[in-house]
Amino acid sequence: MEAKQANGQALLRARFGIDLPETTVPEAIAGLLDRRVTRRYTEQDVPDALLDALLAAAQSAPAKSDLQQFSVVVMRDRARIKRIADWIGTMDWIATAPVFLVWCGDMRRGQRLCALHDMPHANNNLDTFLNTAVDCTLAMGQFMAAADAVGLGTCPISYVRSHIERVSPLLGLPAGVYPVAGLSVGWPVFRRPVSMRLPPSMVVHRECYDDHALPDAIAAYDERRGAREPVAAGSQKNGDIYLPREGVGWSENVARQLSVPERFGFAAYLKTRGFDLA
Ligand SMILES: Cc1cc2nc3c(=O)[nH]c(=O)nc-3n(C[C@H](O)[C@H](O)[C@H](O)COP(=O)(O)O)c2cc1C
Repeated sequence: MEAKQANGQALLRARFGIDLPETTVPEAIAGLLDRRVTRRYTEQDVPDALLDALLAAAQSAPAKSDLQQFSVVVMRDRARIKRIADWIGTMDWIATAPVFLVWCGDMRRGQRLCALHDMPHANNNLDTFLNTAVDCTLAMGQFMAAADAVGLGTCPISYVRSHIERVSPLLGLPAGVYPVAGLSVGWPVFRRPVSMRLPPSMVVHRECYDDHALPDAIAAYDERRGAREPVAAGSQKNGDIYLPREGVGWSENVARQLSVPERFGFAAYLKTRGFDLA
């Protein structure tokens, strides 16, 4: 029992860089605290029977109103996966994975069900868009947890949305279906270090939202995180606008990224693909 508690504390310290002595980590969730993305895969294949079990776990995620508004495209053809990797250009780990999944929000199925039953689909709106994204993301998260549990590695790839006008036709995505994220899947060559998260006190609010302690808490987090994994010059965001320099912390790097619009054409694209977003 004591050994398990010590292991739990070690996991918490690795995840947050601070001690959380009041927190006890049940053995059953230890793997969730210890997870990390994988960005290098061995040549070993992922058998279909295993992949199908992981996808069944993904479909077991909760779904808003049981509407089940997501789809996933399984890619195993290395040449097709490489095309996506090449479009993205900066993420060569995508092409090393034997499986690439594209998780999609899916409003189309509901529209077809309404048509089948001779009823209008009266929910082509922002709420449905959000619900499709949430259903999809919960399923992807459950897939990742299941994959981790059997020793596989995964890495979500939001960059499929940066090339949505090429990825969508490659996958034959019809109107009403859009990619939320890609996910590379394979056996890890090595396990990356655990990435340090914000302290729970910043993220978990008790009864009411309260972020008055943000400046001090972030300064301490930047320092803890920088001591373990400094932001390398090559990882500093938007280096063409902000000169790379020593001592850029996590929060400044976040600000560097968020100060420049990303994928600002996404809503316009979705509107051409059947989403009203009203
Ligand atoms: C929605 C989503 C999209 C992501 N997109 C990418 C991506 O395009 N490329 C990539 O290498 N990692 C991507 N990631 C992985 C994150 O960079 C990673 O989760 C984060 O750095 C924290 O590391 P950890 O998961 O190992 O804790 C994405 C993660 C999420 C949840």
